[in-house]
Amino acid sequence: MRTHAIVLKLLMEGRKVICTPGNGGIFADPRVVRGKVKADDHAGLVELARATGALTIVGPEGPLVAGIGDKFAAAGLSFVGPFKDGASIEGSKAGCCELLMEAGVPIPRFKIFTDASDAIRYLGKAEFPLVIKADGLCSGKGVRIVKNFVEAAKAIEDFMVVKVFGEAGATIVIQEFLVGPELSMFAFVDSSGFALYTILSQDHKTVGNANTGPMTGGMGAIAPVPFAREELRQQIIKTIFEPTLATGARQGALFQGVLYAGLKVTSSGPCVLEFNCRPGDPETEVVLPLLKTPLGDILEAIPTGDLNRIGPLQWHDGSACIVVMAAENYPDKPVTGDVINGLNECGQLAVVPDHPGQIDDLHGGTECEDGVWKTAGGRVIGARCRAATHPLAVEGAYKGVHQVSWRGEKHREDIGAYAN
Ligand code: GLY
Repeated sequence: MRTHAIVLKLLMEGRKVICTPGNGGIFADPRVVRGKVKADDHAGLVELARATGALTIVGPEGPLVAGIGDKFAAAGLSFVGPFKDGASIEGSKAGCCELLMEAGVPIPRFKIFTDASDAIRYLGKAEFPLVIKADGLCSGKGVRIVKNFVEAAKAIEDFMVVKVFGEAGATIVIQEFLVGPELSMFAFVDSSGFALYTILSQDHKTVGNANTGPMTGGMGAIAPVPFAREELRQQIIKTIFEPTLATGARQGALFQGVLYAGLKVTSSGPCVLEFNCRPGDPETEVVLPLLKTPLGDILEAIPTGDLNRIGPLQWHDGSACIVVMAAENYPDKPVTGDVINGLNECGQLAVVPDHPGQIDDLHGGTECEDGVWKTAGGRVIGARCRAATHPLAVEGAYKGVHQVSWRGEKHREDIGAYAN
C-alpha cells in the first residue's frame, strides 16, 4: 500500500519506476517495470540497481534494519535510506529509548528487560495501564497495552518465553502509558543531516473501532490532522526531531532517508512513542497526495546532500483519508486467496462513486490471476480519497470501501473520527 502510493506519486510526476517485489495492483499499471527480486535478496537488489542505474528507495523497515543501505553504499549506488546504524532507531526499541533520553527528547518513562523473571518482578510495583514492546521488528504488532498484571504477564510470557516474534522479543521495553491523541510526522533527511519536514498525519493502529483490539500495520490514516496547528508542528520539530538528529549525528548514526516519528500529544506537550527509519504506513498514503513539491526531486537530493536547495516543502490545500480493508483473521493469521469483487483490470474501482473528491485504491496484499483479483496478504487494499475538506475526504474513502468486497473483509468504521 505504501509502495503503491510512492509509485503512483512518482508516475504522476513523469518518472520511470522499477518496482520489486511489488504486488498485483502496482503491476496492473503498464508504466511500472517489474523487478522480480525478493526483498531479502540484497545481492539481487544491488545488481538490479546497478543494471538499471536507478536511484533506489526502500519502503519497508526489514531490509533497512538488515543493513541494505550499507550494501548499496559499498557498491557506490544512489540510495534513499539509512545505513544499519541509523536504521537501528527502529530496529531496537530499547536503543531508541536510550538515544532519545540522551537527546533530552520527551518520551514515556521506560525500563528495559532481557530477563522475563525480572520483568515480572517489576510488574509488582508498576502502575497500570502499561505499554509492553518487543525490542525488534514485528510488523507493527509487537506492542501491547496492558491493563493489569495478568495481561502484562501474558505479554511478557508471549514475547520473552514463547517468543511469538522470535528473537525480536528477547528484549522488551516496559513503558508508561500516556493519554492523548496520536500524531505522526516525517522528516526527509539528506546525507549532510539537513531535514525537511512534512505536515502532520494520524494513523489508526488497532484492528477494532474506538482503538480497541490488537495492534496492526495500520488500519487507516488522515492528513492533515484538523486539531493540530502549525505551532504544534514547530514544537515537534524543535523539541523532538532536531535534538534526535543532532544526538544521532554525535553518536555517528545518520538517519538519512525518511525519519518517522510516532507521537502522543499529552497535556504537557508532544512525546515520542516510536521512531521509524522509513516512511510511515499508512500515513505515506495520505501525505503524498498533498505534497506539491515533486517527490522525485526530494528523493534525488537525499543521497547528494542537496535538500537545502529544495526549500520548505510545498503542500496542496485539502485533506486525504485512507481506510484499510483487511483479510479475515488479520492481524493474527490472515486468510488469503479470496476473490475480490469491484475492481477493474487495472485494480481500480470498477464503479467510481459520485463524489467531489478523487478516490483511488492502493494495493497491499493482492494478486491478479487471469483477470481475477485475489487477496494475498493481511492488509489487502486501501480506499483513499483526496478532497477539499477532512469530512469530504473521510466520506469519499468510505464510499470507495463500499465498492469493494470479498469474503471475510474487515475495516474500521471510525477512521478520521478522532481528528478534531
Ligand atoms: N504507522 C506506523 C508505522 O508506519 O510504523
